[in-house]
Amino acid sequence: MDKNTTMAEFLPTWVEVDLAAVADNLRAVKEMCGTALMAVVKANAYGHGTLPIAQTVEKAGADAIGITHLDDGIAMRDAGIKIPILLVGGVFKEEIKPALTHQITLPLVDRTILPAISAAAKALGQTLQVHLKIDTGLGRFGIFPEEIPALMAEIREHQNIEIEGVCTHFAMSDVKDDPLNELQMERFEQALESLKILGVQPKWIHAASSATAYYYPQMRYNMVRISESLLGMGTGSEDYPFPENLKRTITWKSRLISVKRYPAGWGISYGQKYHTAEDEWIGIVPVGHGQGYHRADCNKVLIDGKRMKAVGNVCIDQFMVSLPKYYEPGTEVVLLGKQGTEEILPEDLRACWKVPLSNAHMIDRTIPRVYRE
Ligand SMILES: Cc1ncc(COP(=O)(O)O)c(C=O)c1O
Repeated sequence: MDKNTTMAEFLPTWVEVDLAAVADNLRAVKEMCGTALMAVVKANAYGHGTLPIAQTVEKAGADAIGITHLDDGIAMRDAGIKIPILLVGGVFKEEIKPALTHQITLPLVDRTILPAISAAAKALGQTLQVHLKIDTGLGRFGIFPEEIPALMAEIREHQNIEIEGVCTHFAMSDVKDDPLNELQMERFEQALESLKILGVQPKWIHAASSATAYYYPQMRYNMVRISESLLGMGTGSEDYPFPENLKRTITWKSRLISVKRYPAGWGISYGQKYHTAEDEWIGIVPVGHGQGYHRADCNKVLIDGKRMKAVGNVCIDQFMVSLPKYYEPGTEVVLLGKQGTEEILPEDLRACWKVPLSNAHMIDRTIPRVYRE
């Protein structure tokens, strides 16, 4: 079934999202890990669309959803998402009240936010449950393991904050044999031990994102936090292949809008970086860097089931493709995903564009998504 929009109307450019594949990926990762699973839904679910992905993962059995921007969580609650939602990044003190109103669990990433959390708990007349983040080496959010005794003393003074979860996040788990992985594991164990000595036994311990969950099974504890694996990007790693138990989830399509035969030596696009070698058919695709299709010399698309080279600089709204023959305007072009037996992978775009894998899915939000369940 299609949601959001349908192919009944003519679309010049669109993104097909395979929600069944997202659900299958979630079940595959959960089964492999044998733990609870928090689906991390950030940055428009890496181009898939926040709400349809949130609804899909809830239906497929996610135990919680992780977000980094409060607005996303509020939109999820407004759309009827019932499972726990956690802020997995930081939180501003101004966001505490709206987060609690929408039953969104707060992170505890540094000591400065404690008084504001405690004041909110007091105003509600409740004990608030938070997830304590430990910075074991990522150099982002979290307290250092050695700060735990002082922090716990402060928490106990407030008397209205409980540690429901303890977590950390890895910096190098997608890089095979990086020594920081071992070090982060040791530091996290040390943090858990300090908490245990102080009598803190959190309900949830979570440390593994996609790569960690696959390559460091000992770090799965009782919950994993997963995003890329659910969304067709595997473990986001250049060192490891796309896992066999996962599926691709997205196809970005457009159509040729104009096709013209050029004489030899004609310059194509701004900067005139490409000149036709001989008489050459050139097609125009109505997508550009304004919609998230980056400017690069290695862009390729699929037309008629074959790989074809984009030529000349990508413009803000268009790019040009060298064609082996005339194709009718309206002919389908695949920018990412499969056509026949050929496929352009997110990894191909990452390599060509020299961006992180998730950026390969940063397709402009205004491009219609066609959802298939
Ligand atoms: C704190 C946190 N946990 C989990 C994830 C999910 O990571 P992955 O996409 O590698 O599964 C992210 C992703 O950015 C994150 O920031």
